[in-house]
Amino acid sequence: MSLLSIGVLASGRGSNFQSIIDAIEARQLKANIVLLITDSPNAYAIERAKKHGIEYLTMVTKQYGSRDDYFAAVAAELRIREVGLVVLAGFMRIVGKPLIDAFRDRIMNIHPALLPSFPGLHVQKQACDYGVKISGCTVHFVDEGIDTGPIIIQAAVPVSFDDTEETLSERVLKQEHRIFPEAIRLFSEGRLEVVGRKVKIAGAAADKRSLIFPPID
Ligand code: GAR
Repeated sequence: MSLLSIGVLASGRGSNFQSIIDAIEARQLKANIVLLITDSPNAYAIERAKKHGIEYLTMVTKQYGSRDDYFAAVAAELRIREVGLVVLAGFMRIVGKPLIDAFRDRIMNIHPALLPSFPGLHVQKQACDYGVKISGCTVHFVDEGIDTGPIIIQAAVPVSFDDTEETLSERVLKQEHRIFPEAIRLFSEGRLEVVGRKVKIAGAAADKRSLIFPPID
């Protein structure tokens, strides 16, 4: 099997991008990040790409006539580099149809809540304000909806009465950094199959992999 080529889209800090770089460098993930695309020239993810010798492009939406034009251009850049999987690592835009059509079931997103709870933005604040006792994170394939695509892996974290957006975000982020590389690894091994709105994971103890309960500390 040839090495999976990954294209990453990120808007900001890029700690999830870093967790994928680290998993590759630690040889836990057999893949190659061939391109970072960011929609913000100030994204710290760019520094990470530079440090690890990864090609990057800054593609700012206002340089394109429409949202569809923008995502068609993004898809074209990814296609030129023969990307096999597109990874949204803190990409803060709703993906347009031209990109979804070009990479159907080959775009993964990480979301900082247990979907379908708390889609959209300011997710950890929503979870704290609502008073849930368990939150977490979700890796899912991207479809036309907002955070609605088939779920690949989720990890749960406890939420305490005193949690704030900041403290919960930090706890969730630790789990994001575990499950995102893991989901990509399953994809790279050809073990993910989308069946309707569900994802089937092939192999031994597959279901145990798709829900991770870290110990409560
Ligand atoms: C992460 O918590 C990610 O789950 C979230 O943004 C953060 C990016 O952090 N993504 C979304 O909310 C997508 N709607 P990072 O830039 O350090 O990876």
